[in-house]
Amino acid sequence: MASSSLPSISLPVNVFELNNILSLVLTLTITSILLANGAMAMAIPTTLDGPFKPVTIPLDESFRGNAIDLPDTDPRVQRTVEGFEPEQISVSLSSAHDSVWISWITGEFQIGNNLKPLDPKSVVSVVRYGTRRSQLNRKATGRSLVYSQLYPFLGLQNYTSGIIHHVRLTGLKPDTLYHYQCGDPSIPAMSGTYCFRTMPDSSSTSYPSRIAIVGDVGLTYNTTSTVSHMISNRPDLILLVGDVTYANLYLTNGTGSDCYACSFANSPIHETYQPRWDYWGRYMQPVLSKVPIMVVEGNHEYEEQAENRTFVAYTSRFAFPSKESGSLSKFYYSFNAGGIHFLMLAAYVSFDKSGDQYKWLEEDLANVEREVTPWLVATWHAPWYSTYKAHYREAECMRVAMEDLLYKYGVDVVFNGHVSES
Ligand SMILES: [Fe+2]
Repeated sequence: MASSSLPSISLPVNVFELNNILSLVLTLTITSILLANGAMAMAIPTTLDGPFKPVTIPLDESFRGNAIDLPDTDPRVQRTVEGFEPEQISVSLSSAHDSVWISWITGEFQIGNNLKPLDPKSVVSVVRYGTRRSQLNRKATGRSLVYSQLYPFLGLQNYTSGIIHHVRLTGLKPDTLYHYQCGDPSIPAMSGTYCFRTMPDSSSTSYPSRIAIVGDVGLTYNTTSTVSHMISNRPDLILLVGDVTYANLYLTNGTGSDCYACSFANSPIHETYQPRWDYWGRYMQPVLSKVPIMVVEGNHEYEEQAENRTFVAYTSRFAFPSKESGSLSKFYYSFNAGGIHFLMLAAYVSFDKSGDQYKWLEEDLANVEREVTPWLVATWHAPWYSTYKAHYREAECMRVAMEDLLYKYGVDVVFNGHVSES
């Protein structure tokens, strides 16, 4: 298998200065392709017709080469709510069309020393929803948590988050617009009314019209171009293939750099500035409060802190349909969107053949019904096939462990990120 490759698309394939983050959007008008799978099987080849040579997509020269982060004074990253009103509202899918997650944050984060974390039980997690905006007659409750990012070193600052809420809605109809409010009705502190559309039912003739696939997003002025482009293409679903906020290019005092290792070589630990996560959540709310987002982790989410804890912001802030898809880990899971079965794989936790991820993947693949979901799409962060020297063969061990399995079950398309910096 090593001499050929799965049909993969790495996002993006370009050389940039570190933190000159290119956020590529590959907005797929996927319906025509997918429907053609049945009607024109000969014209649209599948993995079963491969292997194929990888194709490199050239750089869009309109992107700026020197990406500059949005500052914390930008109005789009400000906290605009009061008290315990919800902010950073987002929607993500569960494993099938009949269920979604609604996530949001209440209360203010704290950064400094001698912090007193908020009590997650002090604000309840309620979503009221329905198919008519004027009649939100269904109610779901969920869970809440706070996380801390602790750096026990002289001069560094600690962070503790607002209260993060995740509520799962169930019993939803396919391809249906739902309106919702989230918050705590007892304070009262409910959000405004937002809406999302559920995925179509899973079948060989039923697909979301457009899926936006982004990687290495960050929160730069390039990000704003990417997100504007994404919105203008009206996606039904967003896949984020890792590297979200780049909060790890900052010290805890809020000083950022394009090159962390060059600028902060003497830091006792690789610091992060967690408010960048809140800025990202605020900036993205207008999109993510109505278009579901599904995420896999990238290397920038590693974020080591005290007691060797890692990926804490990532695993706390997003909702993942892990349990619903038989996974014991927030790092890997699967879900259906119409006639597509998505595999969200983890490049930064064990992928060995004796490990939990491999066993879960093997079982998940064995249970895929290709008559119901003819298309099988896999994503993870670091590409297996890339000639880019800065990340050359970084994911080779993952490829060696898992490539045969993806071939065996006929994965049609792979999406990756990561190759965006020098
Ligand atoms: Fe990366």
